[in-house]
Amino acid sequence: MTSLHSSQEEILVVGGGIIGATISLALSRRGASVRILERAEPGGLATHAAAGILGPMNETDRPGPFLDLMRQSLALYPEFVASLVEETGLSPDLALDGILQVAPTPADRAELERRHLWQRAIDPEVAFLDGPAARELEPALTGPLDSALWYPKEGHVFAPRLIKALFGALTRRGVVVEQGVEVVRVRPEPSGTLAVLDNTGRIRNARAVVLAAGAALSAIGIPGPPVRIHPVNGQILAVRSPGSFYRRVVFYPPHGYFVPKRDGTVVIGATEERIGGRTRVTPAGLLEFLSPLAGFAPGLLSLPLHHTWSGLRPCSDDALPVLGPLPDCPNLFVAGGHYRNGILLAPVTGEILAEMIMGQDSPLASLAEPFSPARFMKDSGQPHQK
Ligand code: GLY
Repeated sequence: MTSLHSSQEEILVVGGGIIGATISLALSRRGASVRILERAEPGGLATHAAAGILGPMNETDRPGPFLDLMRQSLALYPEFVASLVEETGLSPDLALDGILQVAPTPADRAELERRHLWQRAIDPEVAFLDGPAARELEPALTGPLDSALWYPKEGHVFAPRLIKALFGALTRRGVVVEQGVEVVRVRPEPSGTLAVLDNTGRIRNARAVVLAAGAALSAIGIPGPPVRIHPVNGQILAVRSPGSFYRRVVFYPPHGYFVPKRDGTVVIGATEERIGGRTRVTPAGLLEFLSPLAGFAPGLLSLPLHHTWSGLRPCSDDALPVLGPLPDCPNLFVAGGHYRNGILLAPVTGEILAEMIMGQDSPLASLAEPFSPARFMKDSGQPHQK
């Protein structure tokens, strides 16, 4: 086998999606020499497919470490985006102008009331609205609507532009991105470095490695038990609205949403399908999240269809992120399992992983503790609670 010796000072990041890119940028900003190994296209499996929603409150049904992690990441977003705009001139269209979670019928209201109780204790600005008040915030809600929860500080970002800006910043900083490299195994060397083997038999050496390969992460051989990440297909589509008069992200039951983008498209999603590592778009899948709109936002169904697509969300065994070093291999780090929230969690993941790898103390370290890969390597096997 040939041995491609990267500088032993180099950190290798496996995966060029939003998570790998953000960690690489955070490392580079701390003066580290970083190289990204990407098996296909940057942003390939999940990032380009993402609706870009930045909505922590909808993504869990209780307070706790997962909500804390998401809220911290949301708090980092304005600065994260401003620094990218400054470095590259590319804007990912960050819009923090609020999210609505709607109860289309009186039967859906109890769930909103239950959520409102615990959520307003965390953020007093979370408000319970009646149907007409929600309609004032989002003109697409023309049909009968019982009530809504209003999260004024949440919003969305344009994920494909975000990944473009990130790679623009990485290129300017001299971070090397090797495409077409499929990493198959990482193993510790007696010298303390890590050997990273790709599918052509090449070996690259590094002082630290980050596995940020999304849904492909568990295919990479590591010392000890694998970190299992399951691909979850999400079907999604975009319609074109004649102007940009839709304004807010709206979540609706059972698991639908629409996201009005600054460019006049409205992204509507999404399915959750465990069908292995393949993606697909089906009429039945699209109907799942389009049919409920007929009641409370029928106008969206008459807009011209722009595009349908699907992507793979990376989901761990307990559906929570996996962040940190492997217990038996302290310079091999995992940053995976971001599932429905890779875009939201990118800034905090970048900071946490960069600080861990550079050995820096940080208040963020305690936020990351509950998400250590060590939880899957204990005998108890008890999944962590959301
Ligand atoms: N973040 C929304 C989704 O994964 O569909």
